Amino acid sequence: MADCCDPRGCDREFDDRFARRSAAAYRSQGLSRSAEAMVSALERRGIEGASVLEIGGGVGAIHLELLRRGAATATNLELSPAYDAEAARLVAEAGLTGRVTRRIADLAVDADAADDADVVVLHRVVCCYPDYRRLLGAAASRARRLLVFSYPPRTLLTRGVVALDAARQRLVGREYRAFAHPPEVMFAVLAAAGLAPERIHRDLAWRAALAERRDG
Ligand SMILES: C[S@@+](CC[C@H](N)C(=O)[O-])C[C@H]1O[C@@H](n2cnc3c(N)ncnc32)[C@H](O)[C@@H]1O
Repeated sequence: MADCCDPRGCDREFDDRFARRSAAAYRSQGLSRSAEAMVSALERRGIEGASVLEIGGGVGAIHLELLRRGAATATNLELSPAYDAEAARLVAEAGLTGRVTRRIADLAVDADAADDADVVVLHRVVCCYPDYRRLLGAAASRARRLLVFSYPPRTLLTRGVVALDAARQRLVGREYRAFAHPPEVMFAVLAAAGLAPERIHRDLAWRAALAERRDG
């Protein structure tokens, strides 16, 4: 495993304050609509005893829910260390101590950062990463059965928001950038890795897709 990874500004963008707000939102409201759609779709396919690899899982709401609903273990890879304290508190509150492993690592540049898992999750992550082909390809190669991911629609509106945010980030000297990557190319990356993607959720801000291994 590499000693370190290039956080691409995620460590500053996703800081202690963001982590505290994410944990508070999960405690008071549970999963967001898009996250619930992803968890429910996985549950319908069967997650009993499954190993979960979540990439960019933040405080860990999705993998905690998957563990509560029958998955066995979860590994979370993050670029930002700011979530760790809140994530540990949530694991303890859920009575799931010992079943979650957290690492600061980027699977796209360090293929050994995680083992294969039955289920791979990326919620609101590809939109924070420039080389989405490499990240999704690496994630797909680790998915034994299922991969679920969410992404913003690529519309005039989202492309405008992304451009405005990039201008703001440049102005304040920050490296972080958001992206609205082309869904059809992301689906093609998954298909090339042997997964069959299908759309499972759509709302104003987020789309989600589930991909199942064809030969699995
Ligand atoms: C918008 S936040 C979403 C966090 C969480 N999934 C949620 O929905 O609350 C995006 C997260 O993805 C992480 N991230 C982006 N690219 C990553 C990568 N290649 N590997 C691991 N984490 C990554 C960032 O550090 C950040 O915490």
